[in-house]
Amino acid sequence: MPLTESSRRLASRHLLGLEGMPKEDVQLILDTAKSFREVLERPIKKVPTLQGKTIVNLFFESSTRTRLSFELAERRLSADVVNFSADVSSVKKGETLKDTARNIEMMKIDIIVIRHAAAGAPHFLSKVVNAIIVNAGDGAHEHPTQALLDLYTMREKFGQIEGLNVCIVGDIAHSRVALSDIHGLKAMGANVSVCGPKTLIPREIERFGVRVHYKLDDAIRESDVLNVLRIQLERQAGAYFPTIREYREYFGITRERLDKVKRPMTIMHPGPINRDVELSANVADGEHSLILQQVLNGVAVRMAILYLLGTAN
Ligand code: CP
Repeated sequence: MPLTESSRRLASRHLLGLEGMPKEDVQLILDTAKSFREVLERPIKKVPTLQGKTIVNLFFESSTRTRLSFELAERRLSADVVNFSADVSSVKKGETLKDTARNIEMMKIDIIVIRHAAAGAPHFLSKVVNAIIVNAGDGAHEHPTQALLDLYTMREKFGQIEGLNVCIVGDIAHSRVALSDIHGLKAMGANVSVCGPKTLIPREIERFGVRVHYKLDDAIRESDVLNVLRIQLERQAGAYFPTIREYREYFGITRERLDKVKRPMTIMHPGPINRDVELSANVADGEHSLILQQVLNGVAVRMAILYLLGTAN
């Protein structure tokens, strides 16, 4: 495993987002993740790389995949791990994010992994504490580790990302995954488009260099990969489409719809899935779905990020 001290380092000491991340840094993370992916196939899936480092997972929003994946990644790197849940913390008594983080940091924490409903919360923390900050999802802004595991999974499947036609389908407006995916895919040279109802596509999204489809069949015809997003009912303040049934009819990915193009279509989804809303069950579980592979790769990608940030001086 080529995990001897590497002279290659990331440009930033934090991972706050993929906006502006150089291609070389994305590539370094993906290459490093490949080594850790091999570690995950060993009988003993553990390396001593972060022995002596302490990492706190500061989750102010619910999570299954990201939280478990970070914790597994941290333990497999031999770090000491502390978990924080806002629900059972002094946040309930009115303590601010800044006070919470500064108190935690006094307990000699090296890395803070944070998920928060407010866009910019990780950026704020990076200014008020000395620990390394990793963004595990901030509001509808960015979810960089999800995008990096998406990129890893695409590269694993297709060999390279450059020139790949990737369409992000669904609730673009409320998605932190969409923005991070767009930044990461563009950095790696993919052709990126988005597809969804007009009400769920942010105005001026084209300025990120993406095409917009309002008809799902057009998007399917022109894509190699559909990265399907969850309809984020919890973040939608108003009614963005008449009914779930109508959404499914126009934008739901079904076997019948995919069968119209006479070639395999790779399906991805960050999870959790609204089954039979944005994605039919037989497509989610079908032979061209990479959804569970994304979850597996997520551990390796997070190991790579924590390794690169945690061992930089
Ligand atoms: N993909 C993702 O962020 O899932 P969780 O909300 O379960 O962490």
